[in-house]
Amino acid sequence: MSYIKAIAHPNFALIKYWGKSDASNNLPDMSSISITVDTLFSTAKVSFDSTLKKDLWVLNDIEQESLGQIKPTMNYLKSFKPVKDFCVIESTNNFPTAAGLASSASGVASIVIAINKLFNLHLSEKELINAAILGSGSAPRSLYSGFVYLNKKNYSCETILDSNQWPLKIIICQTSSDRKLVSSRDGMRISKSTSSYYKDWVNDQDNDIKQALKAIKMKDFDMLGEVSEDNCKKMHKVMETSKPPLIYRNATSHLCIQKIEEMKVNGIGIFYTIDAGPQVKIICKAQHADQVIIEMKSIPNIQDIIEVNIGQGARLTNEG
Ligand code: PMV
Repeated sequence: MSYIKAIAHPNFALIKYWGKSDASNNLPDMSSISITVDTLFSTAKVSFDSTLKKDLWVLNDIEQESLGQIKPTMNYLKSFKPVKDFCVIESTNNFPTAAGLASSASGVASIVIAINKLFNLHLSEKELINAAILGSGSAPRSLYSGFVYLNKKNYSCETILDSNQWPLKIIICQTSSDRKLVSSRDGMRISKSTSSYYKDWVNDQDNDIKQALKAIKMKDFDMLGEVSEDNCKKMHKVMETSKPPLIYRNATSHLCIQKIEEMKVNGIGIFYTIDAGPQVKIICKAQHADQVIIEMKSIPNIQDIIEVNIGQGARLTNEG
């Protein structure tokens, strides 16, 4: 075997995490619930290279100066077993990187799965979660398929429902492919120390989690939509009341929201969510997807509209 390859998909949070309880271990301050999608993906091809003097990370064909945010993940994985040679980690994303489409979650999850196999570690689920969380607080969710719950209590992660149990559609309205100006990591630190809404945001989270879990288990679309949009608005309020304000949405994101509200008035069952970036993700039932796409295409400056389904967790693809 000379290389191992793994794939993972991004996940979009419906009940979001924004803020850390322990920055040095990258631990989220709250539980979160997400959906893992299909079609968009990150891959990680990993191999040993005896000529290297340190591990090398190549992201979308560009050699990175350092391991950056995956360094703590790699250190943790290496703590299980001494490895003789350094390795090359070649990551790719088939969608814009660091633009609010959860590339770090899928990127980290794919690396964890690939390295676990390359090093022959046979890690437990809990250890894979620990490895992923060190790279990105939302990455454990990309290890799992479907609707995923990351519980802050013991940082356990599980699938609540799979796509075949509730096959909703996600329409991604890409309003920009620029990298975000403030990383999630810096943004969370700023919000925690400066937003006067941060405490309320954290205290409200358990109720939102309870309601979303109930909605998903009952497959109650309206209930899930209401709590998800409310949670998203609260997160952006925390971001925008930070000092300096963290404005991740752009003018086109706001036009999208306006159009979504119009569609709701016209009886189309949809809801939206927006992460640390300007992309708007619309969740709808399959029968509404075509109409939603037509309506969203009418918005000026939309760069792309991507229809995805709920997808699988991270997995090995091949070795060679
Ligand atoms: O895991 P990170 O550091 O990429 O942060 C994710 C933050 C949000 O996407 C805004 C919310 C979430 O829970 O995914």
